[in-house]
Amino acid sequence: MNIILIGPPGAGKGTQAKRMIDRLGVPQISTGDMFRAAVKEGSPMGKKAKEYMDKGALVPDDVVIGVVKERFEKPDTKKGFILDGFPRTLEQAQALDKLLSDLGSRLDHVVVIEVPDDHLVGRLTGRRTCRGCGYMHHVEFDPPKKEGVCDKCSGELYLRDDDKEATIRDRLSTYHAQTSPLIDYYSKSGIVRKIDGTRSMEEVNKAIFQSIGV
Ligand code: AP5
Ligand code: MG
Repeated sequence: MNIILIGPPGAGKGTQAKRMIDRLGVPQISTGDMFRAAVKEGSPMGKKAKEYMDKGALVPDDVVIGVVKERFEKPDTKKGFILDGFPRTLEQAQALDKLLSDLGSRLDHVVVIEVPDDHLVGRLTGRRTCRGCGYMHHVEFDPPKKEGVCDKCSGELYLRDDDKEATIRDRLSTYHAQTSPLIDYYSKSGIVRKIDGTRSMEEVNKAIFQSIGV
């Protein structure tokens, strides 16, 4: 099954993708995670991406599209995928259409997780991400048993560089200006499933599976 998750920063794309991969047997492809790994490695691409991420802006389309194309060369994507955080611009969406059509494939569902902006700042300033496995805890909504330590792998929890309030506001503006128009783009194909993301993680998860018929 080929799925895109769309939603503003903090909507729960990563949280839900991690709850879907086992049941669907497909990989999560998060461009944000891929850029954070490149930043950690200190690669030239990571250095370039960090300039944009720290401002809450989008990494240029040619860089992102190149990274995604390379990821699609790995065999695990043959079974399907959950794209988390890609595409984010019309140009990326068109590049994905072309990539899938060249592979003789197509999208099945575009799941839009809807959460109003006033919920999102608290979700992001309270998020604690694991350096080891990437799991996202939340100080209030999903607290770790031991402060600063991931329940899943005992890795260290940290606050992402872009989870500061000023950067969060910039990321939200970027989402509304550049990414939310994609909902209309995909609506024409009848594959958009809108989910109320303000509910608990479990309720959102159930609603997503229901909307994609699983
Ligand atoms: P990216 O990593 O994709 O960040 P984002 O889109 O801003 O989204 P987040 O990861 O912050 O939020 P999420 O929706 O995954 O929420 P989560 O599940 O963690 O991108 C980062 C940057 O990389 C971009 O700004 C850009 O610079 C660059 N980039 C990436 N992709 C790009 C692209 N395609 N083009 C150009 N640039 C790109 O949940 C958040 C918190 O809330 C967690 O703590 C979680 O525990 C909690 N939570 C989740 N669900 C619930 C719930 N239902 N109730 C209560 N709490 C909840
Ligand atoms: Mg995420």
